[in-house]
Amino acid sequence: MRHFLKKVFITERELIPLWLLRQIGRLILPRYRFKWIQLDWWDNDDFTQYLSRYDELRRLNTDRRWMLHQLLRLIEGIPGDTAECGVFKGASSHLILCANRSSAIERTHYAFDSFAGLSQPDTMDGQHWTSGDLSVPEAIVARNLTPLGNVQLMRGWIPSRFSEVAEHQFAFVHIDVDLHQPTLDSIRFFYPRMPAGAILVCDDYGCSTCPGATQAIDDFLHDKPEKMLALPDGGGFFIRATTTAAAASLG
Ligand SMILES: C[S@@+](CC[C@H](N)C(=O)[O-])C[C@H]1O[C@@H](n2cnc3c(N)ncnc32)[C@H](O)[C@@H]1O
Repeated sequence: MRHFLKKVFITERELIPLWLLRQIGRLILPRYRFKWIQLDWWDNDDFTQYLSRYDELRRLNTDRRWMLHQLLRLIEGIPGDTAECGVFKGASSHLILCANRSSAIERTHYAFDSFAGLSQPDTMDGQHWTSGDLSVPEAIVARNLTPLGNVQLMRGWIPSRFSEVAEHQFAFVHIDVDLHQPTLDSIRFFYPRMPAGAILVCDDYGCSTCPGATQAIDDFLHDKPEKMLALPDGGGFFIRATTTAAAASLG
């Protein structure tokens, strides 16, 4: 037994609760897949504090938050600003701003949101969402994000304010609007403004609650060299392979 535990890197103290959880899970939610718990980042105090600040420890997004935090490490040296489409309370923009603060490149973060929740879902979006869902007052987002650095809150329905940053290039873009049309509008606008090495993350990619967002990304990328990497806990990203004439001229 001890030999087996050593092999799977789990302590005896944790094994019994985990086994019990799996037995209960098997009964009440058989589809649910458990995973190993011996993950270093679960003990990262700074990250845990960040998660608590946005009440994320009680939600189910912690893995995606960690992934975003890690992906941001890859853009050091890539020129450009950063953007988020769909901000909610600002938890993802918070991570982006922290990365910008420790970057040698001076960046402005542009945070686009209606601050009135989701727009009207279309037929590709299924039944999960209703317009107005996930609305957060701009003042709350401003309170969360402005102390963290150089951020511009861009209030309005996507894509109405994109034209104001048409001359910028972007090293990192986070799209998280849950719906087909604003996802498509966002990737269409930002893709040609990303230099080689820039990263685009779509938080909704591969989530069954957001079929329209996944479709928008797949349709847009089908004739492009980049491929979306679907992440095991939802969301996906690609790294810009080449620089288009537009991004090159902005650089
Ligand atoms: C899932 S939440 C974003 C979560 C956020 N990225 C985070 O880190 O917690 C979706 C956001 O998209 C915004 N949104 C949805 N459709 C939009 C549209 N057409 N134009 C502007 N904002 C939109 C909503 O107001 C909401 O804040």
